[in-house]
Amino acid sequence: MPHVLVTGAAGFIGSHTVDQLLAAGHRVTAVDDFRTGRRENLAGALRSPACRLVEADVSAEDALGQLVAGDRPEAIVHLAALVSVPESIRDPGLNFRLNVVATQRVAEAARGAGVGRVVFASSAAVYGDAAPLPAGEEAPKAPISPYGAAKLASEALLLGHAAAYGFTVRCQRYFNVFGPRQDPGSPYSGVISLFARRHREGTAVTLFGDGGQTRDFISVHDVARANVLAATAPGLRSGTANICTGRGTSLREVLAVFQRLYPAAPAPQFAPPREGDIRHSRGDPAAAAAALGFRAAVAVEDGLAELAASA
Ligand code: UD1
Repeated sequence: MPHVLVTGAAGFIGSHTVDQLLAAGHRVTAVDDFRTGRRENLAGALRSPACRLVEADVSAEDALGQLVAGDRPEAIVHLAALVSVPESIRDPGLNFRLNVVATQRVAEAARGAGVGRVVFASSAAVYGDAAPLPAGEEAPKAPISPYGAAKLASEALLLGHAAAYGFTVRCQRYFNVFGPRQDPGSPYSGVISLFARRHREGTAVTLFGDGGQTRDFISVHDVARANVLAATAPGLRSGTANICTGRGTSLREVLAVFQRLYPAAPAPQFAPPREGDIRHSRGDPAAAAAALGFRAAVAVEDGLAELAASA
């Protein structure tokens, strides 16, 4: 039974990735330090005898190296990260440790134990705010935050190690991921997680700007499937691909779906546009289709209905 080690396994994307790996019959070592990951996200997974939980900080010297040397997984899916762009701006040193040093530990652990494949959680943040629409992987990379810079640096670190030591790296540039288990805990959390909570509570959402801004919203179920493909599909070469739908959805469209799901919801409040906000963001999904055979399958409307139903 193929064996995959997942870092950040108790997080939003990590826990869905673990669930899908187990459903596909793989053995999983789930690694998390629970800084932002939540134990309840793994409640279902840990009922499986094929899943083992290890509490560890991936950025700590030697922790991952020893674990991987003992565990000998076929693949590592590296999702452990500082996930908040504003937090990376407040604490760039912590961003460096959790988003760059941790990646270097993964590269060294993979080399040391002869792991064949590493899948990395990169981000559309590597493009900054000047990418063409849709953004292809070759678009200029101009990160505008420590977070985006760390993701870009990590891609380079992993690809360089992979070329030197003969393993395969798949860098996955996620666009705006949404779905169950996303934490709405800060005003800077993903907009759909915030809107879902407000609708559940019956309080008004705040729309920054006119609501005409668009994002390439992708369901976490699709993202987890892309991770499973990248970790386990035979014969992949190293490379980088957007994980996106290729479609832009405006906040007004998102709100219209919520209003159908919650007909009694109060009217939205309008506030000035957020400073530094990007008007439109959308990725080109062609490279992921060609390299992984991945195409997003969950329509935004269906993903929002699932969120409302799971509340
Ligand atoms: C993402 C990051 C953000 C970062 C930005 C840099 C996440 C969750 N957000 O933002 O931290 O600064 O890239 O480019 O990773 N919105 C509302 N009402 C709300 C919340 C958000 O109208 O209550 C709007 C925002 O102003 C934005 C859109 O919704 O126009 C999407 O916001 P968000 O989910 O934060 O994603 P990004 O803008 O892509």
